Amino acid sequence: MEYTIEITKSKNSRIGEVDFTNLQFGKNYSDHMFIAEYIDGKWQNCRIIPFGDLSLSPASSFMHYGQAIFEGMKAYKDEDGNALLFRTEQNHKRWNISAVRMGMPEIPYDLFSASLNELVAIDKEWIPTQDGCSLYLRPFMFAADEFVGIRPTENFIYCVITSPAGRYYSKPVKVLAADKYVRAFPGGTGYAKASGNYGASMLPLKEAISKGYDQVLWMDGFEFRYAEEIGSMNVFFIVDNVVLTPALNGTILDGVTRDSCIQLLRSYGLIVNETKVDLEEILKASKAAKLQDAFGTGTAASVAPISHIEYKGTVMELPAIETREISNRLKKDLEGIKSGRVTDKYGWISKVKSHISALV
Ligand SMILES: Cc1ncc(COP(=O)(O)O)c(C=O)c1O
Repeated sequence: MEYTIEITKSKNSRIGEVDFTNLQFGKNYSDHMFIAEYIDGKWQNCRIIPFGDLSLSPASSFMHYGQAIFEGMKAYKDEDGNALLFRTEQNHKRWNISAVRMGMPEIPYDLFSASLNELVAIDKEWIPTQDGCSLYLRPFMFAADEFVGIRPTENFIYCVITSPAGRYYSKPVKVLAADKYVRAFPGGTGYAKASGNYGASMLPLKEAISKGYDQVLWMDGFEFRYAEEIGSMNVFFIVDNVVLTPALNGTILDGVTRDSCIQLLRSYGLIVNETKVDLEEILKASKAAKLQDAFGTGTAASVAPISHIEYKGTVMELPAIETREISNRLKKDLEGIKSGRVTDKYGWISKVKSHISALV
């Protein structure tokens, strides 16, 4: 199905105000944003407009009940100046899984893809090309009924904003294994990219930061013994050349980077076990100097080495980054494919295609 997208271009670009040599993550926003509204059971009023404030009723239902989801993706520019997207169909699949879990309408692939392609095309100049930088894409959707009362929502707003961004982590990450708070339970919303999952993680994160850590390593909610994932990343361990990562069990996010890394690691001839990862075993491996590596994977964070893990009062220190041949290679290959520097044997990359913005 074709969607008509109306375009109103911004009169003055803000691109000159941004220091592209010193980009931080999540601080600057490009000139335009995409909006569509779900009214009377269909997506309509699709438009690209100058980035700016939204005007919303304080009775909008998401503000009270947190019915909201989001995605995170990245656009790169290759050496020929083409804008590239990575595995859009995977993020779209997860988007609809999140939407269904949160009682929200699905978005057809054509609309999801058009919103991203047209927006990136119009703000192509905002894609940074420095090492480790990209244009971060943030699609999100929220419940927009003007109704204070709990009932299934009928109106929704879908929006996409984009942000030129540098690295999410500039140094190896220290994680604190949760021993009190739980991110997700079977039957809950752990597998959905639901905003409330992140809201509920802020207090544990604040406490972890106050103890000198960067992130919480979420654990199972029964014994606090089996690793689940990190605040914004899936997690991998390497013991004796075998890669271990928590299996998809309904309480963790099915990361697009996780899946891509598993495919790349297997292509290196490595065994990757998607399994229950027992931190007691990881601790034993660490004491026996067999824990070679631990890293997080995510769109924002790429492949992020972990330097320390605190588990039930014991701190495991991981080997120096230079010795981590597998994850260093993984990061290089993944970032290379995404930015068009390494041949994409997997069909993960698509060139941004605009049907309309070139005409405006
Ligand atoms: C909780 C959580 N786990 C894992 C991930 C990694 O997912 P992806 O690789 O699709 O970005 C993210 C990031 O979106 C996340 O927020």
